[in-house]
Amino acid sequence: MSATAASVDAQAKVNLRLCVLAREASGYHQLESLFLRIDLADTVRVATDTTQRELHCPGLALPQDQNLAYRAAVAFTEAAGWPTGFHISIDKRIPAGGGLGGGSADAGAVLRALNALAPKPLAADVLNTVALRLGADVPFLTMDAPFALGFGRGERLLALRPLPAREILLALPPFGVETKAAFSWYADATAGQPLRAPAPITLDDLDRWDRLVPLAVNDLEAVVVARHAAIGQCVDAFRTAGARIARMSGSGSTAFGVFDRRLAQEPALPADTRLVHTRSLTSVAPVKLLD
Ligand code: C5P
Repeated sequence: MSATAASVDAQAKVNLRLCVLAREASGYHQLESLFLRIDLADTVRVATDTTQRELHCPGLALPQDQNLAYRAAVAFTEAAGWPTGFHISIDKRIPAGGGLGGGSADAGAVLRALNALAPKPLAADVLNTVALRLGADVPFLTMDAPFALGFGRGERLLALRPLPAREILLALPPFGVETKAAFSWYADATAGQPLRAPAPITLDDLDRWDRLVPLAVNDLEAVVVARHAAIGQCVDAFRTAGARIARMSGSGSTAFGVFDRRLAQEPALPADTRLVHTRSLTSVAPVKLLD
């Protein structure tokens, strides 16, 4: 008998680089982004031996059909004509609204799990299209690469050679930032300005941490920090503590610092901000078939 259930560690991401190149007529933005997986993960289990559609996610108040992992399973079912039903359970550890791709990582994990269980798996390009419809971060979080360069909204992806693992500290403020709001603040701040050209990046630049330092920018950071000064204080605290790279991730609210070694003394962060120790990953956690 083939397996009917699978478990995946849905690992979060940080954006080492996030450049906004252009605004589409649709309101979406064309990006150039460097995605890196980190070892902060939700645990996602998917079972297909049911005719119901169910999601169990303690601690998350969202209605089931608004949860991205649930919507991923529905989208997979529509694209593959399988399964008849599903039961998803999620142990959440990645904070929501943090720019770490939490909901998107869960959705990516569901797509990977279902594709591993499916009698007729979807081709990679079809899976990528299903993923993009769910959100701009989902294609990367569905692919089997821990480090990638993304273009378009995030669906045109080039898997890169994994970087050596580094200590990555996260500063999690007690509030989230809505992605839609961050992009609209950016659009307001740059209205009328000429289109940006992509940076002349060579693959050699993306092979080594030291060459990445000048490329590690986030175009959304200034407009978000202008409204949430605490994020800027976290970025500064990481830099003062010796981070090679210190940035906001995605549209915030998380700030991250990349360090060469474990710090002897923890950085001084604003009150109520949680410090989390993680590492960057050199491979993506595999789908584990359960029976
Ligand atoms: O794709 P996702 O659901 O994460 O995006 C949330 C919102 O962020 C979108 O509705 C859009 O307003 C904005 N966004 C954007 N350009 C992107 C990604 C997101 O304008 N590339």
